[in-house]
Amino acid sequence: MTAWETHEFDVIVIGAGGAGLRAAIEAKARGLRTALVCKSLLGKAHTVMAEGGAAAALGNVWPEDNWQVHFRDTMRGGKLLNNWRMAQLHAQEAPDRIYELEAWGALFDRTADGRILQRDFGGHRYARLAHIGDRTGLELIRTLQQRAVAMGIEVFMECKILRLIKDGNGSVSGAVGYWRTTGEPVAFAAKAFVLATGGIGRSWKYTTNSWESTGDGHALALWAGADLIDMECMQFHPTGMVWPLSVRGILVTEGVRGDGGVLRNSDGQRFMFNYIPPMFAAETADSETEADNWYEDHANNRRPPELLPRDEVARSINAEVKAGRGSPHGGVLLDIASRRSAEYIRRRLPSMYQQFKELAGVDITSEPMEVGPTCHYIMGGIRVDAETAASTVPGLFAAGEVAGGLHGANRLGGNSLSDLVVFGRRAGIGAADFAQGRSASPAMDPSEVETIIADAMAPFDRGGGENPYEVQNDLQDAMHRLVGIIRTESELVEALDSLEMLQERVSRISVSGGQIYNSGWNLATDLPAMLAVSNLVARGALERRESRGGHTRDDHPAPDPELGRVNLVQRLTDEGHYTCTPEPLAKMPDDLAILLEEATPDG
Ligand code: FUM
Repeated sequence: MTAWETHEFDVIVIGAGGAGLRAAIEAKARGLRTALVCKSLLGKAHTVMAEGGAAAALGNVWPEDNWQVHFRDTMRGGKLLNNWRMAQLHAQEAPDRIYELEAWGALFDRTADGRILQRDFGGHRYARLAHIGDRTGLELIRTLQQRAVAMGIEVFMECKILRLIKDGNGSVSGAVGYWRTTGEPVAFAAKAFVLATGGIGRSWKYTTNSWESTGDGHALALWAGADLIDMECMQFHPTGMVWPLSVRGILVTEGVRGDGGVLRNSDGQRFMFNYIPPMFAAETADSETEADNWYEDHANNRRPPELLPRDEVARSINAEVKAGRGSPHGGVLLDIASRRSAEYIRRRLPSMYQQFKELAGVDITSEPMEVGPTCHYIMGGIRVDAETAASTVPGLFAAGEVAGGLHGANRLGGNSLSDLVVFGRRAGIGAADFAQGRSASPAMDPSEVETIIADAMAPFDRGGGENPYEVQNDLQDAMHRLVGIIRTESELVEALDSLEMLQERVSRISVSGGQIYNSGWNLATDLPAMLAVSNLVARGALERRESRGGHTRDDHPAPDPELGRVNLVQRLTDEGHYTCTPEPLAKMPDDLAILLEEATPDG
């Protein structure tokens, strides 16, 4: 019989990025015994990679801005696949959450008269992103972390959660994992759990995502019986570093373009003027002069084409490179040096300045950057109730990137940080209410705990099996080649065949050495989740026979109005088979639909 330590709380939040911290703060504030469990060290969450800002209609730079315009922009950016109620709550509540961060000590950049400064970003009609240079995510984490620690929230760091456990009534009541520091097992019992584990980008070769983003929360929910929606909707951020190879994929913030940077091909041409889609034609500047004047005068809302939503920009860069007009290392050129002073660039974009100087030997105040699309964000995720963030499994809540719905088929930059605090708070309330209504202590069947631990330890007992790094490498290669920015039916079918073979290889992985900080073993325990989320993305992508937002099918290049009215809902059957079903989107009330009237030409 294996021994394990056990901890019991009312609410346990898994993941300590912005959403997890905000959820834990709310549950704790309601008097519940609350703990945070995270795979990394506190403060090292992927939230720091949302650099350019948090979108909220504060109206500090453009008084014309309001929640209705933010709602419209978000729905439109998401190609109307969004959960309209989430988009409404997000737009309405984001300003309060930003002021709350300010009250808790976040040091936002300021307007000349001392209010929170806002910057331009793609798809947002007005300068809307509250920011701290290009380190907004970092400041958000720092602020929330300080508050969580000051409130006495217990934090369990460097803990990998392997599986959730349900009680006899089907409510989630436990989570089983191990300490990365020792390899020893641990079980957490709670009346309610919040998943806030972030994204899935590590299944792709080039990504902005850090090592933690292995889809743990998506997989935990799937295995616990939850619904996931629209997993095919993956965002490739237009600008990641492409060179040197060792840092390929690292984020180059959209703030560079928001602050005046432009994209050029190898002929020096500002090629984005050639890729303005009909949906955005009326409001996109069609000459360099008009585009450049826009920064001073947003009056007619004709933005530079570099500030089209990310899906449009990423596809355009891809097309330029494919047409042979790419930069020396297979990207395009992002130029802010010829457009803004060195002082301005260093003040507004200090991390970008440092990043290029140190990693690529490029001085962005005098030279262009080489950039290209990189896997950044999953719009799909756990299906949640907009008001409470409850998943379809009792006792399980989700917020942030792991939850689906808010962003539809494509997320606008800056909407992720505001998402974290708006729905992190709502998940904290939802979980607290659920826990308060659950009288019995959460129960875990010891034999289930034992099986989970035994499965995790199994690679130590297998000799001469598969190497986890080789399996990971082959997975990333397959997802990059076959489930990337542009997709086709034959490649998706090939991807699913590859995933089946990789699944079989995962069951044969062996590792050597001890349990303490054994990175090969840690990876072996991440791979089942990486495989599960890769399957969800590939299956959804095969099923959605249209192009919409971040999901582009070369063999179905247009949006299909019928598919634009459904979420693709994925589940795992008791026998372990994936199912994928179209289910209609909720009907939008007329007072919101009217805000979108000119936003629907693509169905
Ligand atoms: O480009 C960026 O700074 C990323 C922001 C985001 O994904 O919201």
